[in-house]
This record gives sequence, structure tokens and C-alpha cells, in this order.
Amino acid sequence: MERTVEPELMEREDQVISYAKADFSEGENNFINQINDYLINNNINLNDRELIVDLGCGPGNISEKLAIKWHKAMVVGIDGSKEMIRKAELNKKNSSNRNRLKNLRYLCGDIKNIKLREISLEKNISLLVSNSLIHHITYLDDFFNCIERLSTKLTINFHKDLKRPKDEKLALELKEKCAKKYNVVLTNDYYASLKASYTFKELKNFIFENRLSSLEVFEEGDQYLVIYGKV
Ligand SMILES: C[S@@+](CC[C@H](N)C(=O)[O-])C[C@H]1O[C@@H](n2cnc3c(N)ncnc32)[C@H](O)[C@@H]1O
Repeated sequence: MERTVEPELMEREDQVISYAKADFSEGENNFINQINDYLINNNINLNDRELIVDLGCGPGNISEKLAIKWHKAMVVGIDGSKEMIRKAELNKKNSSNRNRLKNLRYLCGDIKNIKLREISLEKNISLLVSNSLIHHITYLDDFFNCIERLSTKLTINFHKDLKRPKDEKLALELKEKCAKKYNVVLTNDYYASLKASYTFKELKNFIFENRLSSLEVFEEGDQYLVIYGKV
């Protein structure tokens, strides 16, 4: 199936509300565990005040989990949508875990041009993550340029995203499954996201052609792709 681009930012209030209301916690916890396993297997300890950045953080679900899991680190969630950042701030304020989120802050900015000095004047990024962001980005170069710009040789990258279904039939089946659980706004967004996602081959080729060979890509189940490693 050909890729159909979707708007980068999620700015409509109904989109933000529908997305923020949905419970994606199972996938989010898996993602956090996957990162944790990688760090443990590579003997990497995120010590006091190291910097973790969550790109395209949306309402902050992953950012909050990162801040709780690595409570000694500083976590910054970044999103280009003012509405999403507003929601993320509100979720943090109203969270039953708010006392454990003092190491979390949010920044409204576009990943296409954000600079490290806007995120931190003192720290390099130890862990750079994103979840469900890549398919929003119109050109892959913009995503990879961003992670190259923000990373040092030591930065661990972990980026998870949807994988584009092989044909329209499968996309419609997944859309139908989504409709059983979520409202029409979220279902339509999910369908647009499936069509906007990249394939394993597209990501793998990009990494090969741009000599980013320290990054690995793998397919997680039949719906997700994960990119990890160093740039
Ligand atoms: C599907 S949501 C994922 C939110 C969150 N990462 C999660 O897993 O719940 C994608 C988010 O990426 C943001 N986004 C898309 N393109 C962006 C860009 N160029 N710069 C910053 N944020 C962007 C959108 O506004 C949206 O909030």
C-alpha cells in the first residue's frame, strides 16, 4: 500500500481529547520495559539528573512513565501542538502520581528545528525516545535529522511506531477492530496513521543509505516497528 501523508501536529481539540482519553497503557508499559531491558543488558545506568527526552510526547503518557521509572533523571516531553502540551501539563497536575513527577517538564516545539540548547543548557541527552511519532513526520529526513542533531555518540535512541499494513484490506480490518474499542475521532485518526506509517523496508533502507548503521530496526509483532541504538 502506498503511503498517504497525514498532518504532522495533532492540534484539534476533539483529537486531543479522544487521544488522551484512550487507554494505551499496555503498549506503553511494554515500551518502557523494552527500554529498561536494553539499558540493563548494556550495563547502562541512568544516574542523577541525566536527561531523557520524549519527542512528540502528546498528552504525556510515556513521559510520565519515564519520569517515574527513572526518577533520578530529568525528563522533558516535547510536542509541537500547543493543545497537546496543555493536556500534558493538565494530566501531570491532576495525576495521582504528581509527587513523583517533579522531574518532568514539557516544551512546545517542532522536532524539525528544535535545538539541544532549547531543551537544556547543561546536559546532553542520555536517552531519546518517541512513541507513535514517526508516521506523523512527512519526510523521514526530518525525523532522522532531529535525532542526529539532538544525540551525542552516547545517546541511546528508542523509537517505536506503527507499521504500514501491506494492503487496504488489512488497514480496514485494523480500523474495524479499533472502532470496537474507541470513538470515531480516534478511529479515523488511527486509520490515517496506519496509512501514513512507514514500512520496515523504508526505515531499513533509509538507515542503510544514510550510513546510520549503529541504529537497528525490528518488527514487533505484525503492527509495530522499533528503531534503537546510537546515531
Ligand atoms: C500519536 S501522538 C503520540 C503521543 C505520545 N508519544 C504517545 O505515545 O502517547 C503523536 C504526537 O506527535 C506530535 N507531533 C507530530 N509531528 C510533530 C513535530 N513535527 N514536532 C513535534 N511534535 C510533533 C503530535 O502533535 C502528537 O501529539
